[in-house]
Amino acid sequence: MKKKPIIIGIESSCDDTGVSIVRNREVLSNIIIHQKIHKKYGGVVPELASRLHDMNITKAVKQAIYSAEINQDQIDAVSFTLGPGLIGSLLVGTSFAKSFSMGLGIPLLTVNHIQAHILSHFIQKNINNSYPEFPFLGLIISGGHTQIIKVNDFFKMEVLGSTLDDSVGETLDKIARILGFYYPGGPVIEFFSKNGNNKKFVFSKPVVGGLDFSFSGFKSDVLQFIRKELKKNAFFIKKNLSDICASVQKIIAEILLEKIQKAILKTGIYRIALAGGVSANYEITRTFMSFAKKNKKCEIFIPKKEYATDNGAMIAITGLLKYERNLFDSIHVTPYSKFETF
Ligand code: KG4
Ligand code: ZN
Repeated sequence: MKKKPIIIGIESSCDDTGVSIVRNREVLSNIIIHQKIHKKYGGVVPELASRLHDMNITKAVKQAIYSAEINQDQIDAVSFTLGPGLIGSLLVGTSFAKSFSMGLGIPLLTVNHIQAHILSHFIQKNINNSYPEFPFLGLIISGGHTQIIKVNDFFKMEVLGSTLDDSVGETLDKIARILGFYYPGGPVIEFFSKNGNNKKFVFSKPVVGGLDFSFSGFKSDVLQFIRKELKKNAFFIKKNLSDICASVQKIIAEILLEKIQKAILKTGIYRIALAGGVSANYEITRTFMSFAKKNKKCEIFIPKKEYATDNGAMIAITGLLKYERNLFDSIHVTPYSKFETF
């Protein structure tokens, strides 16, 4: 019988050190070390992030190998995030992966972080797993990116639309900050939205042509509204917290769905795969699922929570897919901070 390849995946593009071991499409371990230090700064501080990756990466790799119940010499290849992301953080993962590959004499596989978010849908979740069929539309909603991507095949992707300013995650993080919460704000907004009236506050929706997004006008509208109300009543946030959070989430979910409806019309593709940290949000996933219920042609794929936010498993699975296609990389690769093209 053909040996099932074992791949290690290393993610260090932002503030999470993620290391995972996969055998075929099965995840044997998925270790995440979150950096809590950024909470008090209201966002990720790049200098601190790279320093902490450096401190944590060896520990995360050791834990991932131990939890996978394998020996390190069973690993067939090392995959890691080359970009986009914070350059200092990426350099830590890149240097580690290169040394690991040289030390064990195994091939190196570089991974595009955005592509990995999409390909997280190919992680085997159970025996009867269903994967999105090609072509499908990927909706990346994370802290770093907001994009609609036409996925023709594993490594054939085209960007159809992107945010012109803030990403959805950034927008949630900034709104959470004015509400008095720590970074990351998305999960906090979700938490407080429970039992809130999502129709109580109406904020302006951006008017952007084509399949692009814009969130800065919406964000400013929310921030100005809250500041104005606080002048009238210092307890405005305290009294209306659940309703503000629920209303913000509802409008964001509508903006995203309206664009996806446009993309469906433009491409004739009805399979939608959400990806990125914000796709862990209940209101957003509920909005998309209820749309699919009413439109029988439509199929929605939602990642499991642990594979929605940054993680090593999505890097390992992307590495595995490259390994199967002999798409190996040279030891001389250098990380890149900005997304340009796939
Ligand atoms: O994909 P991710 O972990 O990192 C990037 O690639 O950027 O996304 C992080 C973003 C943050 O902005 C965070 O606030 C948001 O995802 N997020 C959420 C939830 N969990 C994480 N937003 C809304 N609801 C959530 N449950
Ligand atoms: Zn990400």
